[in-house]
Amino acid sequence: MSSSITDWTATIATLLRDGTAVAHEKAEKSEGASWLTRGELDKEEYARFLIMLWYIYSTLEEGLDRHSSNPVLAPTYNAPLLSRAAALEADIRHILQTSDWKTHPIHREIETSPPPALTAYVSRLKAINESSPELLLSHAYVRYLGDLSGGQYIRRSIAKAYGFDSAGTDFYDFGSQAATMGDLRKIKVWYRDGMNEGVPIGDIPLKESLVNEASLAFVLNGDLFKTLRPPTNPPSLRVDPVSATPVAHPGSTSPTTPSLASPSLSLRSASLSRQSSFSFATILTLVLAASLAHFILTVGGIKGEDVLRKLFSLV
Ligand code: HEM
Repeated sequence: MSSSITDWTATIATLLRDGTAVAHEKAEKSEGASWLTRGELDKEEYARFLIMLWYIYSTLEEGLDRHSSNPVLAPTYNAPLLSRAAALEADIRHILQTSDWKTHPIHREIETSPPPALTAYVSRLKAINESSPELLLSHAYVRYLGDLSGGQYIRRSIAKAYGFDSAGTDFYDFGSQAATMGDLRKIKVWYRDGMNEGVPIGDIPLKESLVNEASLAFVLNGDLFKTLRPPTNPPSLRVDPVSATPVAHPGSTSPTTPSLASPSLSLRSASLSRQSSFSFATILTLVLAASLAHFILTVGGIKGEDVLRKLFSLV
């Protein structure tokens, strides 16, 4: 973010939102986010993603616990409300159907050969935990406010896609299953106020470091998305053989769910469906016209060269 166009006298909540708006849009439109938001990931791949998140949240939350009295972090420190590591474990256990998930081959693979993007993310969290713990605020902001916002859309898709009732989506559950969007909005307002309380309005170098760290957090999250393995049978590519149109995606019925379909795919699908309805309409028109002509010729007793003259007189 260029300091020439940034009003560094603004609150940290405003600076973080505005300073990461472009990064957010990029993350939101990424392929990985799209698979996730549409509930398209294979169930085991979703579990692999949650295990990677477990490593990230465990490291982040260890740091927040350790530095909970740091004046920058203290106002937003509320482990019972925000901590996600235990919820992630519950979801992982539910999906993999084992309480001993650390011995599961999916976890073993991550443990023995972690994706470089995961190593980079965890290493960064560990480094700032030691050298500049106040920057943990940026990571907590990016993850928690994201989970309280877009995470709630993902929750619905995940529940539908994998047939979860309440178990399996604890990660997106802040408080109780009954928590409404209004409750979540209140938590976000409290969080933004807490950030503004912890970060002195006049401490511009700190605000600049926090915005830079939040931008880095978005990059690290984007890199993590890139490690996701493509769905083996994405619903958006399934074609209904009767209508030749794509099968409606479970998430597409919600009017509030942002559309994250790949534009090229949507256009292609739309074009395919337009082509098939055009040929059907054309055939129907031709059949009707032929029937009408046949009727006129039969009823009117028209033969030979009278045909054209009689037909034109009818128009
Ligand atoms: C997967 C697709 C995503 C969707 C559909 C989505 C959607 C949203 C929405 C609707 C908001 C606005 C909430 C409000 O008005 O209070 C929001 C805010 C936010 N999202 Fe996302 N998001 C997505 C991905 C992400 C990712 C990948 C991250 C970072 C890991 C993220 C981090 C955030 C943050 C930090 C905010 C709060 C911005 C603020 O300060 O107001 N989002 N998101």
